[in-house]
Amino acid sequence: MEKVAVVTGTSSGIGFETALALAREGYYTYATMRDITKGDKLKELASKENLKIDVLELDVDNENSAKTAIKHIFDQKQRIDVLVNNAGWVLWGCVEDVSVNEFKTQFETNFFSIIRLIQEVGPTMRNQGSGTIVNISSVVGRIGFPASPAYISSKFALEGLSESLRFEFAPFGVDVVIIEPGVIKTDFMKNMKIAKKSELDSVYRDITTKVISGVKMMAEMGTPPKEVANTIVKAVKDEKPLPRYIVGNDASMFLEAKKSKTDIEFEN
Ligand SMILES: NC(=O)c1ccc[n+]([C@@H]2O[C@H](COP(=O)([O-])OP(=O)(O)OC[C@H]3O[C@@H](n4cnc5c(N)ncnc54)[C@H](OP(=O)(O)O)[C@@H]3O)[C@@H](O)[C@H]2O)c1
Repeated sequence: MEKVAVVTGTSSGIGFETALALAREGYYTYATMRDITKGDKLKELASKENLKIDVLELDVDNENSAKTAIKHIFDQKQRIDVLVNNAGWVLWGCVEDVSVNEFKTQFETNFFSIIRLIQEVGPTMRNQGSGTIVNISSVVGRIGFPASPAYISSKFALEGLSESLRFEFAPFGVDVVIIEPGVIKTDFMKNMKIAKKSELDSVYRDITTKVISGVKMMAEMGTPPKEVANTIVKAVKDEKPLPRYIVGNDASMFLEAKKSKTDIEFEN
């Protein structure tokens, strides 16, 4: 039986590599993106390697777009085996500089959209008695630092959602997996946004600027997105998928330190 995978945010980075990696493993892969004119490279590689990749429009922020895409996939294939919730972006700015509306915009893509997609594919996976939901969190889904509280709290929220959902879906044979990458070399920092007030006369301007330039430098030397894609493939093929998969030495180091130290030791 042909297995079907759906990946969000496949126009670049981790999503792009994950769509290719799943298709190379034999999955019929719906590579979804909000602007399908960005799908040419994926289509070209798919035709060169004879991969079953279908580029499909899906703006995760838009409820109609999500419903239409998932219905289209179900009408075509009558099953969905893997959903990779990858689409995401980062908003920089300290808490006092980020308006509640800006927080909501960040949460719309990085958190609420994922609930929406899980609710769309849930009935299909439960009826099949199988399926894997892969949620792309981050090392900052478990570790906070200054200047990006909106992004960090959206990933902390995703971790909580995923832990709860693992219990809820387990009796139906559906797995939930969290992926925690460190800094990955993608378009992430090109696609970032900065809270309006941070760019004005903010007391937090220096710290925000320093953190952004530090992360930009780290991203230049970041782990290749292929490593995240390979971990996702491993997770969906594991007979008993683990709750979490960490990707990158930086992420392993930070998360190990967090586990082995008290909160105060870790902060210091
Ligand atoms: N790079 C890192 O260091 C890192 C580390 C940990 C976790 N992550 C997570 O990994 C995921 C992928 O990021 P990336 O590093 O691969 O960055 P990226 O190259 O910027 O890719 C982000 C993808 O998300 C898409 N996207 C954004 N908003 C969307 C929407 N409303 N609907 C559909 N697609 C949307 C983008 O599409 P457009 O081209 O249309 O903008 C793009 O395809 C994110 O969830 C991110 O938080 C990244």
